[in-house]
Amino acid sequence: MIDIRDRVRNSALHAKIVSAEEAAAIIKPGMNIGTSGFTPAGYPKAVPLALAERMKKEKFQVNLWTGASVGKELDGALAEANGIAKRLPYQTNEAIRKMINNGSIQYTDLHLSHVAQMARYGFLGGKVDVAIVEACAITEEGHIIPTTSLGNSASFVQDADIVIVEVNVTQPLELEGMHDVYIPKDPPNREPIPIMKADDRIGTPYIPCGVDKITYIVPCDLPDAVRPLAAIDDDARAMSGHLIEFLNNEIKHGRLPKNLLPLQSGVGSVANAVISGLVDSPFENLSVYTEVIQDGMFDLIDAGKLTFASGTSLTPSPEGLKRFYANIAEYRKKILLRPQEISNNPEVARRIGVIAMNTAIEFDIFGHVNSTHIMGTKMMNGIGGSGDFARNGYLTFFFTSSVAKGGAISSIVPMCSHIDHTEHDVDVFITERGVADVRGLSPKERARVIINNCAHPDYQPMLLDYLERAEKATGLAHTPHLLEEALSWHIRFMQTGTMKK
Ligand code: COA
Repeated sequence: MIDIRDRVRNSALHAKIVSAEEAAAIIKPGMNIGTSGFTPAGYPKAVPLALAERMKKEKFQVNLWTGASVGKELDGALAEANGIAKRLPYQTNEAIRKMINNGSIQYTDLHLSHVAQMARYGFLGGKVDVAIVEACAITEEGHIIPTTSLGNSASFVQDADIVIVEVNVTQPLELEGMHDVYIPKDPPNREPIPIMKADDRIGTPYIPCGVDKITYIVPCDLPDAVRPLAAIDDDARAMSGHLIEFLNNEIKHGRLPKNLLPLQSGVGSVANAVISGLVDSPFENLSVYTEVIQDGMFDLIDAGKLTFASGTSLTPSPEGLKRFYANIAEYRKKILLRPQEISNNPEVARRIGVIAMNTAIEFDIFGHVNSTHIMGTKMMNGIGGSGDFARNGYLTFFFTSSVAKGGAISSIVPMCSHIDHTEHDVDVFITERGVADVRGLSPKERARVIINNCAHPDYQPMLLDYLERAEKATGLAHTPHLLEEALSWHIRFMQTGTMKK
């Protein structure tokens, strides 16, 4: 077994060090398992792999609660063992996605800021039975030093009767000090969360736990299974250019300070490209108040443009992770990880005036956004933190390429096949074609700006034709729709392989 005694600083705890198999044996069928992990960062690996092996033999399932998506040793291994009955609150794993969409896994897709409180109250189907959290060390007092993410770990540890800590020797000890753990009291005793800017520290640099609460400690030497980012393409570059021009104009009109307001940026290749694009922008002294810290943020720090980034997880590409570990002494001065209940907190996002930038699968001519469902039925990933920020930010952007699948799909449709963010939540839409600033516009005004500025030319005449016929048929109703035709574009795609007529 790997020797982790130097990382378990209280020698009385050494007696609790066991193998992954021994720890996994405590898990019973049907239990609610709350783990660390947010993206393929900071999730437990050894215990889930051992649990999956047990599940293959004993054929049982648990409910898996995490921060967000996690790596293959957890989601992938348990899915392969058919070991997940219910999964929440977010995922990106291909096997899990398939099982969600064929009925083998029940999936509860939640705003990420809501999860810890819902779990504390038992809204999610009982309380969390077992917390499994990755740590880089355990302090003399038995508190847990987390690794590359914080997610819901602190709340799960607080709630669970059984706490398994996986000490991962691939995670550098320099991570200590990069976390700020604060669990709000529940209503009616909650106090204002005293964050005024991205670098405000309000909690402890460890997850409060204590020697007695720890059930088992398990060594692990598997690194985070981070994934490469897609190359930045021309569409993403164009969207980033539009964003910079738009923000410059806001500064010119006195609606934003010169160093902008704290930036939040979503997940995926487009989001990362947009942030990377800011390296070549005129903006300086930027700050970030977000969920996921991706490679683009390291680019901004290296370029001297970013003064501070607050998030709940570090989600670099494999090259980004190497770069982070190599320069950790510098990056740790400028990066802080918080529980997702705080990183994504609506109160804080509204107070500090976050600029929320997320990606859509599709949006409709009236400004509703679908971030989660393909053709209205199949779950892609989940809403993640996009809603936490979109509804509560100072300025809310959604990005997407104007077409998908080589042009067979228009990302701007008459009516979204599923809605995650409503017309009331979004200020600005950006595609590679341009910018639709819909602030203060009525639905019919919005529709023309969205069609003219964001839709692909192949689909613009079809969208305009739909709008005009809907206006006529409804006598210029507030939100003119032809209900029998509103989803016909999606139906046509499913029947013919294209939305084009
Ligand atoms: N209809 C059908 N499929 C579409 C589509 C549309 N309108 N638009 C995109 N797609 C497909 C793409 O073709 C691609 O499919 P593939 O994997 O088979 O190639 C897939 O959806 C992903 O699209 P991509 O352009 O690669 O987007 P991305 O990596 O930037 O991710 C989201 C986009 C929306 C899926 C992703 O941002 C997400 O899950 N968002 C929700 C959660 C969130 O916003 N979290 C951030 C909070 S901080």
